Amino acid sequence: MINFHLVGLALALASPAAADCSRDALLAAAESYIAVQQAGAVAGSDFAKLLDPAVAYRQNNKASDATTGIWSKALKLNHNRTILDTTQCASYTELVSTAGPYVLGVQLRHASATDAASPINLVDAIVATTGDWAFDAAKTLSYIATEDWGTLPDKDRSPRAKLQAAADAYLDMWSNSTAINAVPWGTPCARTEGSAHVTPSCKSGAPSGGSASSRNTDRRYVIDETVGSCNAFCAFGGQMPDSHEFRLVDGTLRLVHTITV
Ligand SMILES: *[C@@H]1O[C@H](CO)[C@@H](O)[C@H](O)[C@H]1NC(C)=O
Ligand SMILES: *[C@@H]1O[C@H](CO)[C@@H](O)[C@H](O)[C@H]1NC(C)=O
Repeated sequence: MINFHLVGLALALASPAAADCSRDALLAAAESYIAVQQAGAVAGSDFAKLLDPAVAYRQNNKASDATTGIWSKALKLNHNRTILDTTQCASYTELVSTAGPYVLGVQLRHASATDAASPINLVDAIVATTGDWAFDAAKTLSYIATEDWGTLPDKDRSPRAKLQAAADAYLDMWSNSTAINAVPWGTPCARTEGSAHVTPSCKSGAPSGGSASSRNTDRRYVIDETVGSCNAFCAFGGQMPDSHEFRLVDGTLRLVHTITV
């Protein structure tokens, strides 16, 4: 009986009442990643202190490590933008370095979905550079620099299930001939794919079908309802490392960014 009470007390004291996956903590972690990307070394950084000892590094859909990935290369950055997923305790950061030149997306995932103080156990990056599909960092930067990915008023937000469904419908267009009808197309919409910029209709040139073997697989999502964004990393056509990010305003698709390696 006494033991039972002591255990109960110990659990009560240890219960993580303060633990949550706050936007502030997620943003701080993402910003410490950005600092590492500018410095070009994980070892000894503030970011290193946030990592699980068994953290997995993934670059372009392959296992990598702390010393050889893009995070080990100092980049002069022209652009950074981060979205925060407090449900999965993850973040997505888009970076452009015209000097690199690189355009990259980085997803960070914390070990506990409910505690941003839990260690980061996955650093997942999609990294495009010269020679990659339609790559042109300066053009990408010129297209996206003036876009509005800001916080939406409540009336313009969508539930996360809708944000993910829109991303999935879009990614399904290459393998499903009717998925195009499930995308919540909006106007005006701007689609930036490296050096390509399509506006005011993102539907222009959209595919309608293909075979099941061209399915975009291995989808990893980061979703931020406050800005109406779903980012999805995938294996494009089952093969190419790829990032797609979507912004929905009032339920309709208004911005698309892709990074394809
Ligand atoms: C990240 O972008 C913000 C503007 O959104 C800017 O104020 C900040 O200096 C940038 N950080 C880096 C490291 O470039
Ligand atoms: C194709 O997409 C449509 C619209 O989203 C969906 O209803 C249907 O189930 C999909 N078909 C397959 C085979 O996934």
